[in-house]
Amino acid sequence: MSNYHAEWASVDVNRVPNIKVKPPGPKSKAIQERTDKYVQGYSSQVRRFKVAFESGHGVILRDVDGNEYIDFSSGVFITNFGHCNPRVTEQLVKYAGKLQNCHDFNTEIKTRLIEKLVEITPGDLNNVQLWCEGSKCVEAGMNIARAATGKYEFISFYNDMHGKTLGGMSLTTMTRISGPRAAGCFRVPFANCYHCSFRLTYPQCSLHCVDFIREAVKELATREVAAIVVEPIQGWGGSVFPPDNWLPKVRKLCSELGILLFVDEVLTCQGRTGKIFCVEHWNVEPDILTLGKGFGNGFPVTATLYSDKIKDRMEGVSSASSYGGNPMACAAALACLEAVQEPGLMEHVTELGEFMLDKMRKIMDIHPLVGHIRGKGCLLGIELVKDRETREPFEEAGWMVYSKAFEKGVVWIPSKASLRLAPPLIMSREVAGKALDIIEEAIGEVEHELGY
Ligand SMILES: Cc1ncc(COP(=O)(O)O)c(C=O)c1O
Repeated sequence: MSNYHAEWASVDVNRVPNIKVKPPGPKSKAIQERTDKYVQGYSSQVRRFKVAFESGHGVILRDVDGNEYIDFSSGVFITNFGHCNPRVTEQLVKYAGKLQNCHDFNTEIKTRLIEKLVEITPGDLNNVQLWCEGSKCVEAGMNIARAATGKYEFISFYNDMHGKTLGGMSLTTMTRISGPRAAGCFRVPFANCYHCSFRLTYPQCSLHCVDFIREAVKELATREVAAIVVEPIQGWGGSVFPPDNWLPKVRKLCSELGILLFVDEVLTCQGRTGKIFCVEHWNVEPDILTLGKGFGNGFPVTATLYSDKIKDRMEGVSSASSYGGNPMACAAALACLEAVQEPGLMEHVTELGEFMLDKMRKIMDIHPLVGHIRGKGCLLGIELVKDRETREPFEEAGWMVYSKAFEKGVVWIPSKASLRLAPPLIMSREVAGKALDIIEEAIGEVEHELGY
């Protein structure tokens, strides 16, 4: 890791976390009570642990009661380069005082961002639209796919997350409240080998789940499929990793059937898994690619890129919006692209991931509550089960372990029985190790309470 990142991430491991008042403390509670009068729809992360934060610095978050936490969530996979990264802050301040918005007129900073982005993006994804939310860039990707193919159907996967607008939601695991999917959106089983929908075992299954898509194109859809939309690693669904040959096989199927491959990297981009783009792990070239979250390290900026092969078919597709590509957003995203290219950072993310996985393996060896561990770079998951044989997820234990570790000073992300770990990319081994020690302690306490 370069000196630049190392300095920003540096923190005395003996000093963190520093819990002075049992969280949520009195000031957090007071803020929460005032807000709760008007706000209901919190994430499960906040609903289960209502602290109010005051500031963030590098890998540390501070709440309003003065408690300091190790950030193992990066604000849901967003602050990849640490809170208030000076490089990003400097650019934001500069453009906040210079030019905040000029609709979709060009600015030099926008042009520089776009040039840099296409330079480092794999394949021929040389066409860029800028937006300010993950859901919106996914929605834009669906428009591009419709325009490029003249078709309107989409296939995504069980347990996927692609956003909260109608299109994105229709590709996602929906609830009763979110209502029926948009017409033409269908889902098929993801390659979740720990819970295979076909009750098969990898590799003997020969990835039957991909072959099943062929059937779905005919039988679920009406052969009007514009794109298969995939998360290369399911983030929201609990950090679920398909086998290495899954995405290449999906790519091959798309090419064979004349369907576009739309990879949603809103969560996995910007170095999160040890490559700038997650698809680089398998040398897969998508036709459409979406980027978000870590793309702006917290400033709302997202992007939809598409292949040269379809660029001539974009008649009537507008990429103008009120905020997309505004100068502040472009300045933040460009600073992040420079940050992710700092020498040694991707190697550090890979090594840190291996270190954490190794430690998680040791935790699993001695804690029967842990059924499965998985990870790549700074995107990891621990799944708790009632029984390792049946693999029945233990949701209640998931919430208990989440809350206990949080109380001890680790901010992380629950997903029912799966606990998601997503430290900023710049975290040191020592700090990550300390957070995992705390998580292990929480697992041990929950096992004790549950009578293991
Ligand atoms: C893969 C993926 N796509 C899209 C989205 C939606 O992003 P946003 O919350 O910025 O709208 C998310 C959010 O978690 C996501 O994980």
